[in-house]
Amino acid sequence: PFYKAMFGLSELEEKIRRHFGLQQVVIVPGDADESPVTRRELGKAGCSVLRKAMGNNDVVAVTGGTTLAQVANQLTSQTPLKGNLFVPARGGLGESLDYQANTIASTMAKRTGAQYRMLHVPDHLGEEAYTSLMQEPNVREIVEVIRKARIVIHGIGDAMVMARRRRVDDTVVEAMTAEGALAESFGYYFDRNGAVVHKMLTAGLRLEDIMGTEVVIAIAGGRSKGEAIAAVMRFGHDDVLVTDESAALEIAAII
Ligand code: G3H
Repeated sequence: PFYKAMFGLSELEEKIRRHFGLQQVVIVPGDADESPVTRRELGKAGCSVLRKAMGNNDVVAVTGGTTLAQVANQLTSQTPLKGNLFVPARGGLGESLDYQANTIASTMAKRTGAQYRMLHVPDHLGEEAYTSLMQEPNVREIVEVIRKARIVIHGIGDAMVMARRRRVDDTVVEAMTAEGALAESFGYYFDRNGAVVHKMLTAGLRLEDIMGTEVVIAIAGGRSKGEAIAAVMRFGHDDVLVTDESAALEIAAII
């Protein structure tokens, strides 16, 4: 039965990989919504994909969230990754400290002997605040480093779950709902076709940066995220998807 289960998952991986034109899909057994073991295994699979993608002198931009925290807390390296730099992909998005991109980047760096830099600004800025913040040399410099990351690793969430968790304004939530927001990733909200709804200025990775990033790794699992994952895959700029069996079955059912 073990062999059969593995065989089934690899077929599912190939189906999803081919449909979205990804380089690699990794599926761990189970449902991250239900099982802490699956959440841990998902994180572990993310670690292995990330370590394989990393070279000696890379900038790695990471997003926040509980899934990325599972990656960070299990990331290891036998030799210190001194030349590598972990940075947050985005500024503050209103997450609690443990799940902020800054925290995740620093944890990853400390656990692997790499370097890290922080971005201490709120994300989603108005035009005036954006312009004046970007005139600060310290902010500008780190933002430039982030935007040149060779690797991005990011979570995916359900739009409404994430908007609520980040206490997004009611009026903004209503506008996003009207535009069909279904998924959230890198602080952006996407509709079911992978089109971005509700764009804002951001001190961090912009869509055009993500489009130009060499290696983009998505990691998200749980049945409840199946549709959201498919939406972000339709956005079409990921190279690798790390997910779980239940999310993968949901995805397979709608593609
Ligand atoms: O960007 C996506 C969300 O941060 C995912 O958060 O991993 O806690 O579900 P989560």
